[in-house]
Amino acid sequence: MSLSDLDHTSKRVLMFGGKGGVGKTTCSATTALHYASMGRRTLIISSDLTPSLSDIFEMEVGPTEKPVKGIENLYALEISPDEVMKRWKAKFGPEIYEAASTLIDMEYDEVIDYVAIAPGIQEEFMLDYILERVKDGRYDLIVWDTAPAGDTLRLLDLPYKFIAHLRMAPRFYFEIRDAFKLKKVPFLELIESWKALAKEVTDFMRDPANTEFILVTIPEALGVYQAKRLVREFERYGLTIRHLIINNVIQNPDCEFHRARRAMQIPYINMLADEYGDGRMKIIQLPLFAYEMKGVERLRELEKVLFR
Ligand SMILES: Nc1ncnc2c1ncn2[C@@H]1O[C@H](COP(=O)(O)OP(=O)(O)O)[C@@H](O)[C@H]1O
Ligand SMILES: [Mg+2]
Repeated sequence: MSLSDLDHTSKRVLMFGGKGGVGKTTCSATTALHYASMGRRTLIISSDLTPSLSDIFEMEVGPTEKPVKGIENLYALEISPDEVMKRWKAKFGPEIYEAASTLIDMEYDEVIDYVAIAPGIQEEFMLDYILERVKDGRYDLIVWDTAPAGDTLRLLDLPYKFIAHLRMAPRFYFEIRDAFKLKKVPFLELIESWKALAKEVTDFMRDPANTEFILVTIPEALGVYQAKRLVREFERYGLTIRHLIINNVIQNPDCEFHRARRAMQIPYINMLADEYGDGRMKIIQLPLFAYEMKGVERLRELEKVLFR
């Protein structure tokens, strides 16, 4: 099994998710490298709190898109939560303030800071950002190395949580609106447009023609437990995971230590196969390499397995 079935699709966004340390960034980078090498203009974005694209590509990767040296068609970007917030404020701040200031007498920062701490804003912005990149057509494919499992899913609740957050703000004029019996309130229009935006991004993510979510895990109790939890959560949101990568698999044990470790892994690999292998998901096993996955040469080795 491999990811090569994706070669024949025209998906625009591939998301990699899973708990920290299982190989999300490694698999994302390898996948991005693969498609860039096939001639698709590819952007890899990492929004992981502990981004490591710089290590993997052995160059400085930062918050603005940069070509990856030595690999044609590949661009990389690492974006921190702080940077996301900064851009969010720059993009939506004036609009929100304008709407809010027709209703209330509040300082700019006070309004924007309140709105900006709404739950899911980070993820919402990331998706909006990615959707913008998809729409502007500069890239054929975006590979998104997401923040560790769970966080990304919160965004699917966003429209509801966000609006609840705004409604909770006592100074956000809802009472005043009622007191003055105002019919048309610009702020409500703004909320409506936010709802529409949130819906657009979540619809995009839900549509398998655009987006594929690839789950990465390791053959250990915690890895299996978290994978199951994530799959359940996805299902709750009407999303399907079709690819599961089991990373760090010991394949040819030649000493007592590795035989013991493989014996530990096998039941977990079997559990995952029983649960998801019945045609529900493609399960891809990746070997544990003797070295860390740093530099293009190493990624090429992994690519051979991942896209066999
Ligand atoms: N198959 C593998 N064999 C050996 N080392 C690996 C493998 N996959 C990942 N690694 C190493 O494990 C560490 C964590 O991988 P990383 O991709 O950064 O995980 P995540 O992004 O999920 O936190 C890195 O040092 C990476 O080089
Ligand atoms: Mg990572």
